[in-house]
Formats: sequence, C-alpha cells, structure tokens
Amino acid sequence: MLRHLSLEMVRVTEAAALAAARFMGRGDEKAADSAAVEAMRAEFAHIDIDGRIVIGEGERDEAPMLYIGEEVGSSASGSPSVDIAVDPLEGTTICASGGQNAIACLALAKRGSMLHAPDTYMQKIAVGRDSVGAIDIRRSATENLFRVAARKDMPVSALTVCILDRPRHKDLIEEVRKAGARIRLIMDGDVSAAIATAIPEAPIDILIGIGGAPEGVLAAAALRALGGEIQGRLAFRNEGERDRAKAMGIEDPDQIFTTTDLVGGDDAIFAATGVTDGDFLHGVRFGKGGAVSNSVVMRVNTGTVRFLTAHHDFIRGRMF
Ligand code: FBP
Repeated sequence: MLRHLSLEMVRVTEAAALAAARFMGRGDEKAADSAAVEAMRAEFAHIDIDGRIVIGEGERDEAPMLYIGEEVGSSASGSPSVDIAVDPLEGTTICASGGQNAIACLALAKRGSMLHAPDTYMQKIAVGRDSVGAIDIRRSATENLFRVAARKDMPVSALTVCILDRPRHKDLIEEVRKAGARIRLIMDGDVSAAIATAIPEAPIDILIGIGGAPEGVLAAAALRALGGEIQGRLAFRNEGERDRAKAMGIEDPDQIFTTTDLVGGDDAIFAATGVTDGDFLHGVRFGKGGAVSNSVVMRVNTGTVRFLTAHHDFIRGRMF
C-alpha cells in the first residue's frame, strides 16, 4: 500500500519547487537545478521508505545527489521498498528564463515496477483518456492525428499538438501543419506537456516527438493515474547509448514501450509542484514571510487526482 505516501511525496516536490523558484528568471540554470536537487534530497530523509533512485540526476560518478542507485528515505523498520524516479527541476532553462511550465516532479512505485530508462532520447506519443487506443507510434503523425480527431469527434484542425521546438522535429512540424492541426511549440518541458493531454482543462490534445527517455517514464506514471496513454521508443544518439541501454537490461533496443511497460505494477504515485506558472499548475508565489505553492498528486491504484494549494509560513514553519 502506497496510499499514505501521497502527501509525503507532495512535501518532497514542494521543497524542490520552493528552492528552485527563488532562481526564476535569474539566468542561472545550474543554481536553480542544484537548489531543487538539494532540497528534494533533504526532504526524502524524513520519510519512512526504503527508497532507491532509478531515474535521477545521472550516474553516481557524475551526480553527487539523487544519482541512479542512491538509497533515500529513513529505511525505518517496516518501510516499504520502493523505486523512485525524480526530476527535481523539469525545465531548468524554463525556470532560468522565467518561462512557463517548469515543475518539480517525481514518481514512486513498488520495487521493480518502473523501467530503468537510460539517459537517452525517446520518441513519444501521448494522449488523454478520450483517445486511449487511438494512437500507434508506428503510424505516421498524420494518421495518428486523424484517429485522435475521430475519437474526439472533432476535425483535425481543432486539435492542438504539442511538439518540442527542436531542429530534429522540422519534418514532423511540417507534416502536422500539412495535416491542418494547430501546434504548440515548446522550448522545454515535455513531462508537463504529456500530462496536459490528460487534463481536460489544459490546452493540449496530443504530444508527439522526441524528448528525454527518463521524462517518458515520469509522464507514464502520471498518465496511468489519469487514465491516459503514452507510447515510447528509445531514440539513441550513438552506439554508446545503445550499449548502455543493453547494460541496463533493455533486451530489445527497438521495443515499443506502452504505458504499463514504462510504469507497471498495481500502484504508483506521481507528484508535481509548479515552479513557474503552467497549463495546470500555478508557480510558486513568494510573499511576506512565506510562499504559496500549487501541486498535484495522483495514484495509479485508485485514479484519485488531488490538486493542493499550500501556504508555507517561513516564520513558524520552515524557511525555504
Ligand atoms: P531539463 O529540465 O533537464 O533541462 O529537461 C528539459 C527537457 O525539455 C525535457 O522536458 C525534454 O524531455 C528534454 O529536455 C529534451 O531534451 P533536449 O533539450 O536535449 O532536446
């Protein structure tokens, strides 16, 4: 049972978001990221879990904290054994430039149920509940758009497709334009974009394109809870990355990962706190002696999705 950990996970993402938000618009990506990492790691120490980071800041020799394989949590007797994927600051550049949709996020699942995604790219396609089963990553973007539009009972021209603004997506962007759909080009932050496809109030119908593989696993945890769908296929930049994936236990490097391949098992928790304002979360607002944060936490087992507004008092409580 992971139920009792939901609020604890929000505390962790809140701490990271509050720390990173101090650096909003200050042009220092590293400082923003380090602040988030340090705050997140410190917060884990208070939680009764036997946690293992499976997606984090990198390999042990390149990341001092929240590295892959690091053990986190108090490990008090009776603590559940869990795997954790973290992105203390998803959208470092967004935060440093004061843009939209920077979040602090994590996913927690029972030991062994999350894909240990290598640090490479992943081709992804993600949709919300109403389009589950309509997407197929092996088909062209055009075919997927027509299938999703049919599911939503709307013309392709009414769809909003989110794509990372990268040179590698030049042909994809042209194809989507030709199909007649609207495009939201984003500079960064495809975790938040994937989640937005499954939040009815958010302005994205489908995410397509190549982004980080670790981000694909984080998005999958949220989409499972939200009843949406993501499909992914690793996109290696070189042979070294392909070898690394094999060493990490991925037998077929061309495998198409479904939502449950990315995050399996019967339960998982996804939590995120807004660092800057975004499509479904407000960013941190600092005031006299405190701050207000906005988070979402969801559970795969029950599908419960909670949005939380927290008022942090830096005088009586902790100073972030
Ligand atoms: P960071 O927060 O690590 O900077 O990642 C931001 C991000 O935009 C992700 O959302 C996305 O999956 C990935 O980078 C795309 O990678 P790249 O910037 O190399 O195209």
